[in-house]
Amino acid sequence: MAKPILFSLSFFLLTVFYTSLAAPPASESFYTTFLNCLKQNNTDPSISNIVFPQSNPSFSTVLQNYIRNARFNTSSTSKPLIIVTPKQTSHIQSTVICAKTVNVQIKIRSGGHDYEGISYISNQSPFIILDMFNLRTINVDIQNEVAFIQAGATLGEVYYRIYEKSKVHGFPAGVCPTVGVGGHFSGGGYGTMLRKYGLSTDNIIDAEIVDVKGRLLNRKSMGEDLFWAIRGGGGASFGVVLSYTVKLVSVPETVTVFRIEKTLEQNATDLVVQWQQVAPTTDNRLFMRLLLQPISSKTVKGTKTLRASVVALFLGGAEELVGILGKEFPLLGLKKTDCLELSWINSVLWYNNANEFKNGAKPESLLDRNLNSASFGKRKSDYVQKAIPKDGLNLIWKKMIELGKVGFVFNPYGGRMDEIPADATPFPHRAGNLFKIQFSVNWDDPAPNATLNYLNQAKSLYSFMEPYVSKNPRSAYINYRDLDIGINSFGKNSYEEGKVYGAKYFNNNFDRLVKIKTAVDPDNFFRNEQSIPVLAGKV
Ligand SMILES: Cc1cc2nc3c(=O)[nH]c(=O)nc-3n(C[C@H](O)[C@H](O)[C@H](O)COP(=O)(O)OP(=O)(O)OC[C@H]3O[C@@H](n4cnc5c(N)ncnc54)[C@H](O)[C@@H]3O)c2cc1C
Ligand SMILES: *[C@@H]1O[C@H](CO)[C@@H](O)[C@H](O)[C@H]1NC(C)=O
Ligand SMILES: *[C@@H]1O[C@H](CO)[C@@H](O)[C@H](O)[C@H]1NC(C)=O
Ligand SMILES: *[C@@H]1O[C@H](CO)[C@@H](O)[C@H](O)[C@H]1NC(C)=O
Ligand SMILES: *[C@@H]1O[C@H](CO)[C@@H](O)[C@H](O)[C@H]1NC(C)=O
Repeated sequence: MAKPILFSLSFFLLTVFYTSLAAPPASESFYTTFLNCLKQNNTDPSISNIVFPQSNPSFSTVLQNYIRNARFNTSSTSKPLIIVTPKQTSHIQSTVICAKTVNVQIKIRSGGHDYEGISYISNQSPFIILDMFNLRTINVDIQNEVAFIQAGATLGEVYYRIYEKSKVHGFPAGVCPTVGVGGHFSGGGYGTMLRKYGLSTDNIIDAEIVDVKGRLLNRKSMGEDLFWAIRGGGGASFGVVLSYTVKLVSVPETVTVFRIEKTLEQNATDLVVQWQQVAPTTDNRLFMRLLLQPISSKTVKGTKTLRASVVALFLGGAEELVGILGKEFPLLGLKKTDCLELSWINSVLWYNNANEFKNGAKPESLLDRNLNSASFGKRKSDYVQKAIPKDGLNLIWKKMIELGKVGFVFNPYGGRMDEIPADATPFPHRAGNLFKIQFSVNWDDPAPNATLNYLNQAKSLYSFMEPYVSKNPRSAYINYRDLDIGINSFGKNSYEEGKVYGAKYFNNNFDRLVKIKTAVDPDNFFRNEQSIPVLAGKV
């Protein structure tokens, strides 16, 4: 009686054993299918060289090169079936066509700086990565004051290529040189020239995109709606952006930077009160970022205090700056000896890392892509529309000190940001916003309880800030990606789910983005955890 059971059991085991030996793992058979599709759709005889299956010895290196957050570099982090590293436009077109054919999600990665890692991880498996790092041509045309920039370029490369050709041109974009153009420009992109020239996206005049049908479109062929959407509507929703063409801006031969720090004992709170009045309203050539960080007190051992640091760039000379701030911001007490006059490109180096700059960092260092370098971090964002009163600040400091690790960066708006209408681009946070808050916490302890602890600190401070920040919606900056504010599961409530984070990131521009998305990608092929959903009825 037992025999047949035994027999079938051993047959079953044998079959399992045999199959696991004979059939390649799912990722391998996927690879074969995908590569065959690419070969059929592309005339490049060496196209197999741009595809990395998990079994390729270089797979981990290619994957880790642009992982910028160590939270997403663990053994339990979701991994792509393959990574495609296009070297020409047709490679992107064929990848889109084949991914659609086999119905697999594409994650597009340019610089990999997404704060939640969603350019290279996914909560929907299986997925593949389309990695843009090979596509980083930059052509700077000083005569016409424009630059053609491929999405895989970094901001550092953009700054350096402009500097090679002109010492009096620049481009308004972010502070960190290894941030990628593909994600940064798609979500807005701001830096030290924000108050004079607005966002990166405000200075884009053309773009190339590969759409869901695999077509290569430019501004003219994509039309003004789609061109509007990809200048602030966030990466990943509308297609693969191949390049942006931008208008360069003028910078003086000499600019000025300074950094001034005060602790609570040195009346940092009064300084912040005055900063809130001055930083968003002063001369638009002046960008004064405010960093707030809980630190150990030097005066009272064993206690903690808060340090406020004003870090500034002025597009002009030190003498003029000292004059302006002497009048407007007396509590800062700025003296000429606090100021450093330098070229614009050196201000980029200084702002990125003042110590490295003092130690002789050269503009060439902006070309360093800093591969495979990641630490643990979490960011969140808020907008402040009414200055926070002094007693509010005191409560906030107390909370920050109690939590211990989460800091703030206050980024002043005003100037050009007030002049650009809220619907000129999808980025809606214009007039009426005094400054943006970035919640910032970095750590290097890989223990899971450390991660949990710091993520909880950030959440706790975020709840605490509610009375002081924008409401209905509580706005957020898409480039400070934060999955806590809502994610999409692409089910029948996709639109409603999308509206939760979409209203925060895009305010009243959300519905226009949804309409455009529905028109250009009705089946929602291009999607991620926080992409623009299609209209109800379609999924
Ligand atoms: C250290 C650091 C400093 C920063 N400093 C600033 C700053 O000063 N100012 C500022 O505004 N922001 C700043 N950011 C935020 C930064 O702008 C965003 O993280 C930005 O999205 C990164 O772009 P990326 O190409 O490097 O990222 P990725 O992770 O490659 O991409 C981000 C998102 O865009 C999508 N995407 C990427 N490339 C494409 C493409 N070619 N086509 C379509 N979709 C694409 C991705 O799928 C993903 O959803 C900083 C981030 C870090 C980590
Ligand atoms: C690739 O597929 C697209 C869409 O089906 C088609 O238009 C194109 O001609 C194909 N290319 C080649 C080289 O077969
Ligand atoms: C801080 O402010 C108080 C009150 O205005 C003042 O008496 C004191 O000198 C200030 N301290 C510093 C270090 O500026
Ligand atoms: C990721 O983890 C691997 C070890 O698993 C390590 O070798 C690599 O340096 C890490 N990379 C980053 C970007 O943290
Ligand atoms: C994590 O747990 C260890 C051991 O229990 C403890 O020593 C450490 O302080 C914890 N770290 C954090 C950041 O909570």
